[in-house]
Amino acid sequence: MSEMLRLPAEAIYAGELAALAAGDADRRPSGWALSPKVVVTYLMGGTAADGTPVTPKYVGDRRLIETAVATLATDRALLLLGVPGTAKSWVSEHLAAAVAGDSTMVIQCTAGTDENQVRYGWNYAQLLAHGPSREALVATPMMRAMESGKLCRLEELTRMGSDVQDTLITVLSEKMMPIPELNSAVYARRGFNIIATANNRDKGVNELSSALKRRFNVVVLPLPDSAEEEVAIIVKRVGEMAQSLDLPEPRNVAEEVARVVAIFRELRAGSTEDGKVALKSPSGGLSTAEAIGVMVGGISQATFFNDGRLTPGTLAATMIGAVVKDPVQDKAVLGEYLETVLKKRRGFEDYYASLSELI
Ligand SMILES: Nc1ncnc2c1ncn2[C@@H]1O[C@H](COP(=O)(O)OP(=O)(O)OP(=O)(O)O)[C@@H](O)[C@H]1O
Ligand SMILES: [Mg+2]
Repeated sequence: MSEMLRLPAEAIYAGELAALAAGDADRRPSGWALSPKVVVTYLMGGTAADGTPVTPKYVGDRRLIETAVATLATDRALLLLGVPGTAKSWVSEHLAAAVAGDSTMVIQCTAGTDENQVRYGWNYAQLLAHGPSREALVATPMMRAMESGKLCRLEELTRMGSDVQDTLITVLSEKMMPIPELNSAVYARRGFNIIATANNRDKGVNELSSALKRRFNVVVLPLPDSAEEEVAIIVKRVGEMAQSLDLPEPRNVAEEVARVVAIFRELRAGSTEDGKVALKSPSGGLSTAEAIGVMVGGISQATFFNDGRLTPGTLAATMIGAVVKDPVQDKAVLGEYLETVLKKRRGFEDYYASLSELI
């Protein structure tokens, strides 16, 4: 096991990427580490030419990933849009790992992000001592991606101010970044492009200007269609995460995931699975990612405090944490759900008991 808490995708899946590259005879866009078809195989899973199994990274519609990969081979940038927890950052990291062999050039956009974090900054000691020079310039991940012909990832693009977002227009349309202080510019090498993520649920975001929108192709990542699909994603990711955290995986994980997902999906949809009872939805998102968090938290608790047994009792506290984001409103929503739906449902008696005890 690595000493690092978490390695980048290209390090974790180095074996898969090398096997895929070795057997990749298809045409590659210049600057790409793999051909577009093989990038899709890396994301969706399959086998490499030498028989090495490739694990699926994204579980969902293959066409979405094909569109995303095809976009990156054009002069338009890619924007992955969706509600929280739909694997936008996850897909963006794996796309960068497969296309450029490097997923580490990331800019986290916040309300406090300014132009210098997108374009370049200065080492002020150098600047004062020797004046503006290339040595005094501090390159951002964007600048390094341009210079090396790789992908730059912008996380939560719409969180930064519109004026700062618009600095991307020159980069995207002219593929260069002017440095007026040095009377020069950085020109992007072939292979450079941008993958941005944004979620369309948060408040306080800054809409993209239409000039910028036009330079992005938008791919919307949806919530999983069916409960089965969602359970499969969660079981797979929980297994991987438990392994990387060195937690033994209890035998009944799949069973409990199915029950937690059944509860989360009904609360999220605002009605019971059979459509007969209308419910109120809690204020939080209750996404797939949230369910993964609940399960991993439950496994940790089971390991250290419950002799490794994963029970509704060990999951209840984290489930309440996921559902109740607003202490007053959401508590009422959950209470009503417990009394009107879960109390009478067969197979959920232990969840009803554990949740109503804690709420
Ligand atoms: N369809 C899916 N396929 C594979 N993994 C998924 C899928 N949906 C969610 N996940 C898992 O959910 C977790 C969270 O995903 P991620 O952090 O990428 O979400 P996000 O869309 O970036 O959310 P946010 O908007 O909050 O940043 C990841 O571990 C990811 O593996
Ligand atoms: Mg994200």
